[in-house]
Amino acid sequence: MAYNLLKGKKGIIFGALDERSIAWKTAQYCIAEGAEIVLTNAPIALRMGEIDKLAKECKAPVFPADVTNMEDLDSLFTKTREHFGGGVDFILHSIGMSPNVRKGIHYTQSNYDFMHKTMDISAMSLHRVLQTAMKHDAINEWGSVVALTYIAAQRVFPDYNDMADAKALLESITRSFGYHYGVKKHVRINTISQSPTRTTAGSGVKGFDGFINYAEKMSPLGNATSDQCAAYVVSLFSDLTRMVTMQNLFHDGGFSFTGVTPAVIEQMGE
Ligand SMILES: NC(=O)c1ccc[n+]([C@@H]2O[C@H](COP(=O)([O-])OP(=O)(O)OC[C@H]3O[C@@H](n4cnc5c(N)ncnc54)[C@H](O)[C@@H]3O)[C@@H](O)[C@H]2O)c1
Repeated sequence: MAYNLLKGKKGIIFGALDERSIAWKTAQYCIAEGAEIVLTNAPIALRMGEIDKLAKECKAPVFPADVTNMEDLDSLFTKTREHFGGGVDFILHSIGMSPNVRKGIHYTQSNYDFMHKTMDISAMSLHRVLQTAMKHDAINEWGSVVALTYIAAQRVFPDYNDMADAKALLESITRSFGYHYGVKKHVRINTISQSPTRTTAGSGVKGFDGFINYAEKMSPLGNATSDQCAAYVVSLFSDLTRMVTMQNLFHDGGFSFTGVTPAVIEQMGE
C-alpha cells in the first residue's frame, strides 16, 4: 500500500546490487511513495550486479561511484544536481564490505590494510558522502540521510569481525555529522540497525544461517525483513519524522531489548 509519503521528493540510493539488497527494496518503495531517484554503486558492482533492471523499473539513471573515491563522489553529486536541476531530499547509504570477513581472517589476526578498507568502505564513506554533499550544497533543507547498521556496534557478535568496529564508527559519524548538518541546514541523519537479512553482504558472515535463526527466536516479533526495512527507511525520508536525527534506530522485531525467550531456553535444554 502506498501513501504518497515522498511525493515530489528526490533522492540518491547507494548500494543496490541485486534483488535481495536492502537498497534495491528501498528504491522500489521510494518510487511507490512518489519519489524520483538516482541509483549509484561501485563500478565493479555495476558490472557484476543487475542494477540496470532496477534502473529501468524505477526510470532512474545510474551514476557509478566508488564511495572511497572523492572524485567519483564529486562527479556523482554534479551529475545528480544536473539530472534533478537542484538538490536532493534524501540519501540512503546501504554499503558494507570487509576484506577480512571475505577472506575468513579471524578478528584477532586482522590484516590492517584490509581493516583500513573495511573502515573506509563501510564507515568513513558516510563522512565522504556527507562532506561532498555539503560542498555541493546538494541536500535540501530538512533533507534526510539514512545509513544501515547492525547491533554488533553495541554488543559482541564474534563472527561479525571488524565490521563491528566499522558499524560503531558509522554510528558515531551519524551523530557527529548529524549535529553539524542539522545546525547548518536542518538535515537529519540517522542509522537503522536492521535484523540479520539474507543478502550478499549478510550471507558473507560466518555461520549466518544459525545466526539468523537465533535472532528470529530471540525477537518477539521475529526478524524484520528487507521489505519492512525499506518501509521504515521511507518513513524516515518522509516529513512525518522531521525532528528525528542523530539516532541509531533498532529495526529488529525487539531483539535488541530481549534478554531471553522460551524458544531459546527450550533449545538450550535439549
Ligand atoms: N544483511 C544483513 O544481515 C544486514 C543487517 C544489518 C545491516 N546491514 C547493512 O545493510 C547495508 C546493505 O547491505 P545488504 O545486506 O543489502 O547487502 P548488499 O551486498 O546487497 O549491499 C552492500 C552494497 O555495498 C556496495 N559496496 C561495496 N563496496 C562499495 C564501494 N567501494 N563503493 C560503493 N558501494 C560499495 C555493494 O556493491 C553492495 O551494493 C550494509 O551497510 C550492511 O552492513 C545488513
